[in-house]
Amino acid sequence: MERLLVNAGPIAHMAGKGQITGEIFDESKYVEEAGLAILVADDKIKKIGKTEELVSEFNNIETIDLTGKAVVPGLVDSHTHLLWSGDRSREVSWKQKGMSYREIAENGGGIAATVIPTRNCSEKELETIGLRRMHEALRNGTTHMEAKTGYGLDTESELRLLSIAARLAEMENLPSLDLTWLGAHAAPPGKSLDSYYEEILSEQLPAIIEQGIARSADVFCEPGWFNVEQTEEILKQSRNGGLDLRLHIDEFTDGGGGSLAADLKVTTADHAHYTNKDAREAMSSAGVMCGFLPGTPYAMGSQFPPFKECMENNWAWSIASDFNPNCRTQSLPFIASILVQRNEIPPITALAACTRNSALTTPHPSGLEHGQIVEGGIANLNIVNGPWWEAWCLQPGHSPFVATMIEGEMIYH
Ligand code: NIG
Ligand code: FE
Repeated sequence: MERLLVNAGPIAHMAGKGQITGEIFDESKYVEEAGLAILVADDKIKKIGKTEELVSEFNNIETIDLTGKAVVPGLVDSHTHLLWSGDRSREVSWKQKGMSYREIAENGGGIAATVIPTRNCSEKELETIGLRRMHEALRNGTTHMEAKTGYGLDTESELRLLSIAARLAEMENLPSLDLTWLGAHAAPPGKSLDSYYEEILSEQLPAIIEQGIARSADVFCEPGWFNVEQTEEILKQSRNGGLDLRLHIDEFTDGGGGSLAADLKVTTADHAHYTNKDAREAMSSAGVMCGFLPGTPYAMGSQFPPFKECMENNWAWSIASDFNPNCRTQSLPFIASILVQRNEIPPITALAACTRNSALTTPHPSGLEHGQIVEGGIANLNIVNGPWWEAWCLQPGHSPFVATMIEGEMIYH
């Protein structure tokens, strides 16, 4: 099946190989002027060229007139906690009384408070919850997302979350999924962290590897949760079992996770809020992506991580939603507006962070290029609701997209 998108406005394509580091001063390298057409064959972009030329060459196929609307790649959300049930809204007043994330966890809130309702939820209910969230992500332009477990926190419940996620990954016309096991997220209710750690190594991790659904492993490496030594052991055994590695590090304090991320050359080390300069430098030399999650400090009312310092030092970074019970946005355009409208980051840099850079850590199941609009790549792209591509990150609270093409199918919002 072939389709021709004609009369595109500016296309912020982000095409190229490898990480985008530093500030993109020359955005013209990544933005084509209005007037192009995109030929899509099945789920791939076959050709990009002038509208007049492609219209005369392919005159017998379905044509969609973009009427000058700008186009950006399908967004790639490289860090989400997709599957959980329950509601921790009451924690907002605890935060406003000055309780820290750790104090909230010690007083019956936090991750463990989500584990009970998630375990009590039927598979069907969790599947429906996941589907609803995938629709919401798509409405906000996400065409591919990473999805972590981490609210089962025993072997049976973690395996169950992965098998539900595997079914969701098969759904058509919704974001594709990249699945991560995050059994090492916190101590489950009624267990000490140390005994849970032993259980992870002796029982849970071998079962996850045998199940064969998760592509990656992740650990919440933070003082008060899994320490650097425990994290290293879990990651090494995960890697031996064939899993790719991701990390939560330095969300509230510099706990040494950055050096570990560099030593083990994990794919992406996320939050990385308080990571020291030497560790950032080491991560960069090791090719580790620094995955910023600005929705979390937004939700907690704290300061934002040092995006600008990373730009100035040419360290590669991505952004993601970190969708979870404590940070409930699924909108990457909103996350980008935090960067652009609160942190002086150029729209093109914010776009790189949730397209080409996040795609590098979160590959598409087809094996095709994504996070960029390029011939031969997957046909995942967003049609902005106007002629300016920058508008994709300047409408917080609204989806800036009138339509999203996902694997060659146009979904109108
Ligand atoms: O990435 N901090 C660790 N994990 C999640 C939050 C989980 C939760 O509060 O339920 C995060 O922010
Ligand atoms: Fe997270």
